[in-house]
Amino acid sequence: MRPPVPTTTALSLRYAGVAYLAGSVLFTIYYFASLYRNSQPVPVVKPKVMTEPGMGTFDVENILYSQQVMNWQTPRGFPEHETEEDAVLSKIFSSTMQPSKVLPYYFKAIRQFDPESVTITTLITFDRYPIFSKLVTNYQGPVSVSIHINDDELRDENLSKLQDMYNSNPYMREFVDVHVIVDKFDRQFNMWRNVARFFARSNYFMMLDVDFHICTNLQRHLSLDAQAREVMRAGNAVILPAFEYVEQEEGVDSTTFPKNKQSLRQLFDQKRITTFHDFFPKGHNATDYETWFLTDEVYKVTAYQHSYEPYVILRKEGTPWCDERFIGYGANKAACLFEIYISGIDYYVLPQDFVIHQSHPYKEETRKQERKYNRKLYQNFQEEACFRYSRGFMRDHVWDADKARNLKEQCGKIRGYSQVMELFVEDIHVDEEEEEVRKERSSEGKKGHDSHKVV
Ligand SMILES: *[C@@H]1O[C@H](CO)[C@@H](O)[C@H](O)[C@H]1NC(C)=O
Ligand SMILES: *[C@@H]1O[C@H](CO)[C@@H](O)[C@H](O)[C@H]1NC(C)=O
Repeated sequence: MRPPVPTTTALSLRYAGVAYLAGSVLFTIYYFASLYRNSQPVPVVKPKVMTEPGMGTFDVENILYSQQVMNWQTPRGFPEHETEEDAVLSKIFSSTMQPSKVLPYYFKAIRQFDPESVTITTLITFDRYPIFSKLVTNYQGPVSVSIHINDDELRDENLSKLQDMYNSNPYMREFVDVHVIVDKFDRQFNMWRNVARFFARSNYFMMLDVDFHICTNLQRHLSLDAQAREVMRAGNAVILPAFEYVEQEEGVDSTTFPKNKQSLRQLFDQKRITTFHDFFPKGHNATDYETWFLTDEVYKVTAYQHSYEPYVILRKEGTPWCDERFIGYGANKAACLFEIYISGIDYYVLPQDFVIHQSHPYKEETRKQERKYNRKLYQNFQEEACFRYSRGFMRDHVWDADKARNLKEQCGKIRGYSQVMELFVEDIHVDEEEEEVRKERSSEGKKGHDSHKVV
């Protein structure tokens, strides 16, 4: 039997009821939304100093920063020693192109960070602001970013654009420390990296290029993975494997990216995703993607070579800095990771986490020239770094210890290195033997003396 057809009055009553219900739901939503808005005012964040009439923002900053002093504690009773911040910073970054003005914490996040957390350190230029904002929203953890502003007539305009960027996303205020570098030198990448790391406020930092999307819940995985934390605490590096889409268009919108290894695997098998820059395998293949797809445990990188430039998390304390003589494209990050590796830091790969490149067109022409120059510099740098660390290891008597293994493996590839080192090693062994003999003699002497006493 069919239900009776409702009368007009019943029908209109029902409509009225539905309308009332919908109305009250909407009202409630609106009410709570406005309550929430009122309780959460979104203040506009400004740099520490505002422009005074007739002065650019930067002029004011400049004056103020130059007045900051660092205090050096001295034994009680002596006055503290003061040094101007400008002087301190100029020494910290003394191997960079000068003059250069660093403004630390131009914006500072309001949060206090867990010292055990990982701060993302990265560099951005003006055209990368939107993608940076996505990174911040996605990570929801500490971020320390270096921003270069050209010291020209657009300087103050660009600083105010930076302020707009900072205010455009409420997560900036929560998580992001901005350090500004004002000078006339584009692309001092390694200096900018060091600035971001120097002012990072937790014990670990990740060196990430801003256009990479962290696809997984990295912070959660790290907090659960005892093995990974062990590696990090010991001062070794952990790596997130890097991928990219084969078709540029597919790699634009990170909301469509895979969120776990299984989904990534499917896209990889379908050849829609590949390892990052597979036209230059040496950049990333030491990550050993084959092993990575098969394992769910942290594993050690065994095929390191000097062109390897993965995305790493490192301990802030005890990790060598990036050499700041590398300016422009090419070799800068590889050089940094080379020195870190030969200093005795081992590289491990995280089993669950990965990053995918978000496509954008490259400016190839400038890159070519700079690459050529930096390739030459990198050769010299490797030799120099090898001898510097070799000397240090011998002096510290760790030449035969595990710490020197990475160095021996890499530096051994440099022509002429082994022959020179043989001489050093002989010298050092002679020195050590002499030292031994001296020690034995003196302890014998002591024993003789002691026994004498006893008798
Ligand atoms: C400054 O702003 C201009 C456009 O207003 C832009 O083209 C330029 O890249 C910016 N420079 C820096 C160093 O941010
Ligand atoms: C990485 O690629 C280089 C260059 O193609 C090759 O010589 C090397 O054997 C590869 N290494 C690994 C671990 O696959």
